[in-house]
Amino acid sequence: MKLAIAGKGGVGKTSFAVWLGDYLARQGEDVWMVDADTALSLGPALGLTPDQVPTPLVQNKDLIQERVGSGGFINMNPKVDDLASRLSTTVRGMHLLVMGTIAGAGGGCGCAANALLKAMLVHLIIQNTQWLIVDLEAGVEHLGRGTISSVDGLIVVSEPSVRSLNTAAEISRLAASLGLKNQALVLNRAAEGYTPPENMALPPVAAKVPALPSLVEQQQHTASVLDLPERDFLDQTCAAVLEHFK
Ligand SMILES: Nc1ncnc2c1ncn2[C@@H]1O[C@H](COP(=O)(O)OP(=O)(O)O)[C@@H](O)[C@H]1O
Ligand SMILES: [Mg+2]
Repeated sequence: MKLAIAGKGGVGKTSFAVWLGDYLARQGEDVWMVDADTALSLGPALGLTPDQVPTPLVQNKDLIQERVGSGGFINMNPKVDDLASRLSTTVRGMHLLVMGTIAGAGGGCGCAANALLKAMLVHLIIQNTQWLIVDLEAGVEHLGRGTISSVDGLIVVSEPSVRSLNTAAEISRLAASLGLKNQALVLNRAAEGYTPPENMALPPVAAKVPALPSLVEQQQHTASVLDLPERDFLDQTCAAVLEHFK
């Protein structure tokens, strides 16, 4: 199954992506984790030190030039089938691919970087042998219809605040308009009894994760969000979210 994770900045997208990937990897599943955010925090959240995190694809100018070209002619359908295994790093039984974000590609090679990044995502999405979890920047619209509508589901993460929920509702609406209607809401840092206001057009709530003091404490000395005492609870949360997409 291919899932994308979106939501307002800081709400817990990367953390949830890592919990989900780790849960699946421990079940023996073949899991591909894709960091498509500017912040590039998926590697560190999986426990990698900065020097272990691969260079993001969008910064790999030589590769972009080689596959897509530059200047007047851009190949919008570059060869990418060899890149996933070549560029990925294995961490805790998962494959990690660091792409970076299209919006952040810039630097005069934005179009070419976009072309390579989209081609990679589409390639990963249409291969149907494994799990794919894409940790997105806030929205989904920069991926475009063709890319986003090929994932099986969208997990929207939100905190129990009106601002975060408004972003969640906006992402949900945009994703649906791009053809991605299979969506679930994960409420992070939310008390068990919390329910969002009824008048907001939000995806159905698939799970709630409370604020975890153990994680706050752990983040003071490591970027990893794994190996928490709440692992069993997080496993159940992930299972509930996946159940939603079955
Ligand atoms: N349920 C939670 N309890 C406590 N801290 C959390 C929780 N979820 C996320 N965090 C922390 O909040 C920060 C932002 O989370 P992150 O997953 O990086 O958000 P995003 O990817 O949406 O920007 C991180 O330091 C993370 O460890
Ligand atoms: Mg993140």
